[in-house]
Amino acid sequence: MAFRARHLLGIEHLTQDDIRTVLDLADSYVDLNRRTVKKTDALEGMTQINMFFENSTRTQASFELAGKRLGADVMNMSMQTSSVKKGETLIDTAMTLNAMHPDLLVVRHQNSGAVDLLAQKVECAVLNAGDGRHEHPTQALLDALTIRREKGRIQRLTVAICGDIAHSRVARSNLILLGKMENRVRLVGPPTLMPAGVAELGIEVYDDMREGLRDADVVMMLRLQKERMDGGFLPSEREYFHRYGLDAEKLSYAKDDAIVMHPGPMNRGVEIDGTIADDINRSVIQEQVEMGVAVRMACMDLLAQNLRRERGRALTEGQYV
Ligand code: NCD
Repeated sequence: MAFRARHLLGIEHLTQDDIRTVLDLADSYVDLNRRTVKKTDALEGMTQINMFFENSTRTQASFELAGKRLGADVMNMSMQTSSVKKGETLIDTAMTLNAMHPDLLVVRHQNSGAVDLLAQKVECAVLNAGDGRHEHPTQALLDALTIRREKGRIQRLTVAICGDIAHSRVARSNLILLGKMENRVRLVGPPTLMPAGVAELGIEVYDDMREGLRDADVVMMLRLQKERMDGGFLPSEREYFHRYGLDAEKLSYAKDDAIVMHPGPMNRGVEIDGTIADDINRSVIQEQVEMGVAVRMACMDLLAQNLRRERGRALTEGQYV
């Protein structure tokens, strides 16, 4: 049986079978989400706490809706007003919440590795909603679902991931997932925004957008993550758009039926031209958002099943659960 993990911390820990299991279940949740009544009881009686230490629109809204549609009691911690501001450590906050017996904890944090650390301290299932520049597993899974539904497969595709690769957990999780599923991945962007040592890892790296996009099936654009830059990475945004921004002319180098993706939030006129982002024949940016809810429902459903199994086992072994 696939997907027997306790937590969802990164794509790194998943097998091809695990990935397929999530995507297959998510497909059924896409159907549910298009109905008038969008409810199941997969998380009935369970408590989900969302802890977002970094800003978020899509990811937090989508985890909240996903939990509610699965029947969980969902609480959004307001980290701006929590005791973190009084100097409480991440682990102390987590231990406090743990004492209230949540079943699922969804965490976004600015430090790479913080979510893994937290998962070692609590008894519930932990989902990584993005940690620093490390991983953002549900984003890569929702991107995979979007690609699979658009292209009919998630194998043997040429995917160009473009822009600020160095600061992007989205790029990292996608690179791992697409590699595991046997796709050809190219990283395209200025050398200053490429992580050190990628070329040595055998990954194709391009400084020239037109070359990098040539015959690509999927063009994935990334936001310039200025909050993670300490200056000196770029000449100017105008110059950046000129060389690396996706416009119709650069996109014409990709396959005629290539799709355009962006995890959001977008900077129109910086990494992507507004007309391309809004072109419903090329851009699947809104589909990505839709798939996000379904994928998060699938991940939380699978983790909840594992929790139940684990607790059922403990019960038969005479422990109080
Ligand atoms: C991304 C993130 O937070 O890593 N956004 C998202 O989750 N949709 C990408 C970004 O912030 O640029």
